[in-house]
Amino acid sequence: MPSPHTLQPPARSRTPERLTEVLEDAADAALLAPSVHNTQPWRIVLHPDRLDLEADRSRQLTVLDPAGRELVQSVGAALLNARVAVAAAGRAVAVERLPSPDEPDLLAVVRPVDGDPDAALAELGPAVAKRRTNRRRFADAPVPDDVLSALARDAAAEGAGLVPVARADSLELLARLTQQADREQNADAAYRAELRRWTHRRPADRDGIPDSAVPHVDGRQSDALPLRDFDTAGSGALPADTHSGTEQTLVLLTTRGDEPMDWLRSGEALERVLLRLTALRWVASPLTQIVEVPQTRAQLRSALAPHAHPQFVVRIGRAASTERTPRRARSAVVENSSRPDPPETPRRSGASGWPVGPAVGPSGRRPVPDGRGGTTWI
Ligand SMILES: Cc1cc2nc3c(=O)[nH]c(=O)nc-3n(C[C@H](O)[C@H](O)[C@H](O)COP(=O)(O)O)c2cc1C
Repeated sequence: MPSPHTLQPPARSRTPERLTEVLEDAADAALLAPSVHNTQPWRIVLHPDRLDLEADRSRQLTVLDPAGRELVQSVGAALLNARVAVAAAGRAVAVERLPSPDEPDLLAVVRPVDGDPDAALAELGPAVAKRRTNRRRFADAPVPDDVLSALARDAAAEGAGLVPVARADSLELLARLTQQADREQNADAAYRAELRRWTHRRPADRDGIPDSAVPHVDGRQSDALPLRDFDTAGSGALPADTHSGTEQTLVLLTTRGDEPMDWLRSGEALERVLLRLTALRWVASPLTQIVEVPQTRAQLRSALAPHAHPQFVVRIGRAASTERTPRRARSAVVENSSRPDPPETPRRSGASGWPVGPAVGPSGRRPVPDGRGGTTWI
């Protein structure tokens, strides 16, 4: 008599049709990743057995990010989301990073494979659609040590370090260097022009940073850790009081090296930390001015991370949610997809700001606000 195992039909997740769905879902998750200035600098190519994640250099911020570090980090965040989606679908995943020196823009190949899914990644699945960059004032409650330990474990799992910045002298230095970097950047006309370009997008572009995600800046801001001033037209819709000071919880994400592979891994680490925070109902925003100006990055490194390379400062706290930022049309970003671009439907959101779209459709997707008065499907 055959064993009970041989009597079972093949798991639904192992059929080819299901594999296509898993990859399409992974592409959808990747598109929701955070990216520098919401440039969404990625291209996704679907194959029957895998997904290729490519850098789109035409979307690089040439003034802010001449080396393309933040572009690669943004793609790293998209890669983490794709891995989470595959794990949440009950599959193990094999990832090849920078697989071919001849194709430097092919940053990763994601292949669902037989085996047990990574449970720690799978549990982050629901957070992918809920995560936002939150630039509001955070409540004064400090982030407990057990949460910081969980974040450090997530960063370590992606090969990165996470250092809470807690000592008064370190916080004072972080504030001083962030102010210096912010001042230097804003004194650069080319930097300001690039920022204006990415905060004044045509609605049809579905990228860049909308007013709904930006605190109003009225010239009276005096934060010790200034947020990047995205309010280039004075129409930021969030309250002006952001209260970003040295008493908030601040962490530094670091990597051992500072090569494209490290950038990619640090983007994965950032997104894993952000998803964990979302799952635990904390909010966060990256503050990267200090690592964009070479001199302040070097000073930060020698003071706080002499054996590593600083990649992100992240402020963490509690605050009301913010609206979703826009995402480019799927058909413009995902190649070989059999999923149509979702139709536009009226926007709905709950009092908490978390999406409350209609019932999930047969494909498991549902519409959520895109932050610009439109709708995107997740
Ligand atoms: C590499 C990188 C750098 C970023 N730097 C900053 C920053 O300095 N300040 C900030 O407010 N947000 C920063 N962000 C957040 C993006 O602006 C944000 O992800 C994007 O606007 C999309 O919005 P969302 O995160 O709410 O989906 C950064 C994100 C990435 C991936």
